[in-house]
Amino acid sequence: MKITFADAVPADAGLVAHIANRGSLPDSIETVLAEGAKAARFKGSAGQVFEGFVARGDKTVRVAIAGAGEANADKRTSNLEKAGAALAAKYLTSGEKRIVLDVSGAGLDADALASVLLGLRLRSWRHDTYRTKMKDDQKKTLTSVTVVGASDGAEAAWKIESALCEGIEFARELIAEPANMLYPESFVERCRSALEGTGIEIIAMDEAEMEKHGMGALLGVGLGSDRESRLLCLKWNGGAAGQRPMAFVGKGVTFDTGGISIKPGPGMWDMKWDMGGAAAVAGGMVALAKRGAKANVVGICGLVENMPDGRAQRPGDIVTSMSGQTIEVLNTDAEGRLVLCDALTWTQKEFDPVAVVDFATLTGAMIIALGNEYGGIFANDDDLADGLMAAGQSSGDKLWRFPLSPAYDKLIDSPIADMKNIGGRGAGSITAAQFLQRFIDKDRPWAHCDIAGMVFDEKPGHTWGKGATGYGVRIIDRYVRDVLKG
Ligand code: BES
Ligand code: MN
Ligand code: ZN
Repeated sequence: MKITFADAVPADAGLVAHIANRGSLPDSIETVLAEGAKAARFKGSAGQVFEGFVARGDKTVRVAIAGAGEANADKRTSNLEKAGAALAAKYLTSGEKRIVLDVSGAGLDADALASVLLGLRLRSWRHDTYRTKMKDDQKKTLTSVTVVGASDGAEAAWKIESALCEGIEFARELIAEPANMLYPESFVERCRSALEGTGIEIIAMDEAEMEKHGMGALLGVGLGSDRESRLLCLKWNGGAAGQRPMAFVGKGVTFDTGGISIKPGPGMWDMKWDMGGAAAVAGGMVALAKRGAKANVVGICGLVENMPDGRAQRPGDIVTSMSGQTIEVLNTDAEGRLVLCDALTWTQKEFDPVAVVDFATLTGAMIIALGNEYGGIFANDDDLADGLMAAGQSSGDKLWRFPLSPAYDKLIDSPIADMKNIGGRGAGSITAAQFLQRFIDKDRPWAHCDIAGMVFDEKPGHTWGKGATGYGVRIIDRYVRDVLKG
């Protein structure tokens, strides 16, 4: 979606859109449209769209009015996004190629307009790469938006949000790609091209190097796969030289069959998005690099494919992690924690980060607990948890906090190794978090976000269509902006 700014409505505009708060209509529209909107019971509630046609000069112009709700609602930002998104949803395949968004007199400041544009752009993202037989009326036609009447600073505000859009779109693309196209090495390659020219530093460790570091837990998961595992590290140094970085770590299981503890067939296809945590981290790094965030941040992705095979690890196998701690792998389907534990150990040793936050589609139990409304967060530090939850609240990628405690930790003690990789029947998301905590240094602020219910949506949401949501990218971007002042 190309978004440009102009001084006046172009003479050839075929579709002109306006944004209206609840109970008001744009001053500039014709009486017939105002009467039409009233007759159609258009109230200006968030995401509601009215459409009418009028004659202007010798042209018939299609006019759309998108509602943005109350002017001073506490959900203002998300309401503005909904207004933009509703326009995208309505016109994406309508045959219209361009929306002229006339916000003259709408009273939108630079940030408010940027929110409208963010919603519009995010909602217009689709992944049609593999659809060769789409009918013309299914194809996306809308490719550009011309904004008229923007207030001062709107272009600059949009530039920052458009970097965020690039990050979210990149994450969605990684999530949408099937596992025959996206595997550890190709994940790395896509990051290289997405980040080219940004100045970000990329390190991709292969299996031999990980072996040297003793990453037996991560490598054990990849044993059954013909695809080589990778540990990807994206380093953004936008802050003061020498300042300790913030670290984000993602679970990147490019396909999770369950391994020898194989999953049932129905729904297994969903496990192509078991790399959603890594996608959030990679997308977050794209957003930070593209907007030139003034902070030092590292993004680490543990990239592995979990397959059953003659060489795959077995239930009962004992592996030694990079930390030296041994793990009894009772269920090869509890693989995410095995990937993350070595990624977390390496991250802390390599960077001594001010805090480390991981994102992972870690447990089905999290979906049972929270459904698809909130991600779950676990943390050993209240400030870090509060900062992340606030970032989630203001950006729309919401988080809900869960407990950690020694009583839960006991549930993963093993009689034969330092720990086992599963707990009992109860508290599955918490025992997974307790497992990760065993790899966190004393006094290191750490948070774990279990985003299993948030990565993929079977129905369209307010800023996404069916499918990949890009959840998590906005938490990373917002946390860096608001807490790290980057
Ligand atoms: N990737 C899954 C978790 C998951 C399930 C994410 C459904 C998204 C949708 C994870 O690797 C897994 O298989 N977890 C097991 C853990 C269990 C064996 C302790 C689970 O949740 O069933
Ligand atoms: Mn699994
Ligand atoms: Zn998994």
